[in-house]
Amino acid sequence: VALKNYNTFGIAAKARFFCEITTVKELEQALRLKEYQKKVILGGGSNMLIVKNIEALVIHIGLKGIHMVEENDEVAIIKAMAGENWHNLVLWTLEQGYGGLENLSLIPGNTGTAPIQNIGAYGVELKDVFVSCEAMNTETLAIRTFSKEECRFGYRDSFFKKEGKGKYIVISVTLKLTKKNHKLQTSYGAIEVELKNNGINNPTIKDISDAVISIRRSKLPDPKVLGNSGSFFKNPILDKKEFDIFTNRHPEAPYYKITENEFKIPAGWLIEQCGFKGKRFEDAGVHKNQALVLVNYGNATGAEIMDLAVSIQENVFKRFKINISPEVNIIN
Ligand code: EPU
Repeated sequence: VALKNYNTFGIAAKARFFCEITTVKELEQALRLKEYQKKVILGGGSNMLIVKNIEALVIHIGLKGIHMVEENDEVAIIKAMAGENWHNLVLWTLEQGYGGLENLSLIPGNTGTAPIQNIGAYGVELKDVFVSCEAMNTETLAIRTFSKEECRFGYRDSFFKKEGKGKYIVISVTLKLTKKNHKLQTSYGAIEVELKNNGINNPTIKDISDAVISIRRSKLPDPKVLGNSGSFFKNPILDKKEFDIFTNRHPEAPYYKITENEFKIPAGWLIEQCGFKGKRFEDAGVHKNQALVLVNYGNATGAEIMDLAVSIQENVFKRFKINISPEVNIIN
């Protein structure tokens, strides 16, 4: 089965076997299939790079539905199934007037992937609205509810990327949203500028969503037009000692102070300094407006994108003595 339309990078790799599940029962049945030893779970395909053909059973998660769990005058607790497109969920919450997801507008991918990497943008992370998620154990097929603490969220990180890797399949996500007194997050520079340019002083959740959509559209390529997986690398975090050395040598470099001992450096800046921004090598390239995003001009293979990524890592290390690591899942 061709996977080109199942990954936002648009990599034309193939899966040996493929099935789409739309109920939890079907997921159970698919995981029980003994003839296929190896199984790979596929959600929105927005945070992965398929490096070669997948010699396994690929299970595409098509679980749909959004339900109200509990509500009062102030908050709504909703549960969304893993196969719901993330941005459609965000738009649905905005239509209901629920606040909390507006900064996370237009992030590609499905709801089930959101907790795995604790998606985040413009000052908000999934963990800020997260209550719990249900996940199926791939061995025992038991369904377990993970609380926010149990998910152990970090920057683009969670239990599901560490100890839980490959052991659970997220089937639903439960979120706590506001019905009034929304906690607006507008301090991220780009949002402030966008709102100001539109003459908006008291933004609504919809205004913030619109601002985020317009910023993302201006910087990030639309996967439907140009294959990509969003940020390919994570922004590296330096400790105080490393940061002092770095900033002495490169006083012009942008950074965000996270704690007294943690400083995040935009990898996009490091990559741009190495001359990669907008560069194209055959069909693999670095986006012209955001150097952190690798793109597929049409027929790049996963291996070609990977070669480019490695070359970027080597150049960044040579020049800055900083290791940058992929944010996307490398499937090989
Ligand atoms: N920069 C450059 N050159 C570039 C890109 C960025 O110099 O080509 C510098 C600029 O100084 C810019 C700064 O980096 O001000 C920050 O850039 P941006 O606001 O675009 O954010 P980012 O740190 O590059 C992160 C997330 C994005 C998220 C934005 C906004 C990661 C790995 N990426 O990018 O997430 O949308 O912040 O919150 O943390 C994603 O994960 O797929 C993603 C797109």
